[in-house]
Amino acid sequence: MTDTAGTGALPVEGVPAARVLDEIRALRAADRPTHGGRLFAYVYDPGVAGLDELAQAAHAESAHVNGLDPTAFPSLLAMENAVVGAAARLLGGGPGTSAPDVVGSVTSGGTESLILAVKAARDARPDLAEPRIVVPVSGHAAFAKAAHYLRVALDPVPVDPATLRPAVADVAAAIRPETVLVVASAPSYAHGVVDPVAEIAAVAAAAGVRCHVDACFGGWTLPWLRRLGAPVPPFDFAVPGVTSISVDLHKYAYAPKGVSVLLHRDAGLRAPQFFAYADWPGYTMVNPVIASTRSGGPIAAAYATLRHLGEDGYLRLAALTRDAVAGLADAVRAVDGLRLLAEPESTVVCFTADDPGLDLFVLVDELTARGWHTQPQLAYAGLPASVHLTVTAAVAPRVAEFGPALAEAVAAARAAGPVVLPPELLALAGSLTPEALTPDLIVGLAAGLGLGAGPADRMAAVNTLLEAAPVRLRERLLVEFVGLLQRPTW
Ligand SMILES: Cc1ncc(COP(=O)(O)O)c(C=O)c1O
Repeated sequence: MTDTAGTGALPVEGVPAARVLDEIRALRAADRPTHGGRLFAYVYDPGVAGLDELAQAAHAESAHVNGLDPTAFPSLLAMENAVVGAAARLLGGGPGTSAPDVVGSVTSGGTESLILAVKAARDARPDLAEPRIVVPVSGHAAFAKAAHYLRVALDPVPVDPATLRPAVADVAAAIRPETVLVVASAPSYAHGVVDPVAEIAAVAAAAGVRCHVDACFGGWTLPWLRRLGAPVPPFDFAVPGVTSISVDLHKYAYAPKGVSVLLHRDAGLRAPQFFAYADWPGYTMVNPVIASTRSGGPIAAAYATLRHLGEDGYLRLAALTRDAVAGLADAVRAVDGLRLLAEPESTVVCFTADDPGLDLFVLVDELTARGWHTQPQLAYAGLPASVHLTVTAAVAPRVAEFGPALAEAVAAARAAGPVVLPPELLALAGSLTPEALTPDLIVGLAAGLGLGAGPADRMAAVNTLLEAAPVRLRERLLVEFVGLLQRPTW
């Protein structure tokens, strides 16, 4: 954004409010559509009239409140405790349950919740010089991030290519004396399948190790789907051995972004999550979560969203979502050459292509060109490339349009044929080490692949190149490409 004078966002003379908003709206025009049920990742849209306005008003009420000190702003503490209580109740905890002492904290998102679950587990075992965590490869990448940030070793467990779940025996075999945490997903993001939580928690408990259930994605839908009659396996605090659960309110609780809840079975398990410091001349500091200063806005918005939708609202939205998932899955089944990678058991539809003439990455681009924004997933460890659809309630009215659009996009992708990258480029991707990447090579690659600012509508070549690269090179290329995008505007 540029203004007549000054640099970037900071003009010499302030710009009138209406114009600033116009500028933001003009920028937003280039974004993927956050509403309307055609974006199957990044956003969670219930399609409920008036909910955005309520959440925005609630956010504004508390935006300047600081969660740094709960004694200074009791309003925030009250809302946080109410939200945590609701999450705990939904997930099998609270008075009258087998987990009456559940406690929790509101974090900024799933990643922060997972980092803190790992931190709590690590810091509960100060006797271990080299702590480790056991995570199925279908576990969210945020566990790898937590392991990296916290210097905890990661022991990945493979998943069965047919069930997309880890074998419990493999999880048990991966547990060592240094293991501080075992992870299960309910469900996994990539494929939407629920791990065998009860069995995993049992082997963790037998080894005296904590078990975290990552229900960031599905923790706010599985309970409603179960009430609607779906065969949801046990995954919450009703399962003995589950010591902590994360659930993101900015996903299927439909709260604006910036809110997840991390629950522990009791306060003793939670204690090592906190950080306190009194060894400096400033205010005595105690932080339950990673951030110190934190805005009350997201918590107030989540509180308002939960209160407004209520149990009946979430049940209704879950029923809409369930029906939308079934409709989308039928649309996939109806196309020759496409195959569901997993039978939908939550709110994900994930499919692959069995036909070499049908390039999934080209298909994703063809869907994009038709206004349907899906998420490509690269082939990994014996699992084929796939297309991921996160389905929310707002998709329901669109389902009937999706089938014809998919069929049309498949025909166009077949006609276009698979991406063919120059053989020397593919050879380079397959053989280059991350260390051998030079800045010039990166810039050349990015330009050759048409990567620039803003959403690229044709990403098939980029995805094909990434898929040809070994995992470490994929990571390095991603870092470099995004580094090219993150440049200040002067
Ligand atoms: C299962 C699961 N865990 C963790 C996360 C990370 O959440 P966030 O993006 O809010 O950090 C996600 C995000 O999609 C998820 O699906």
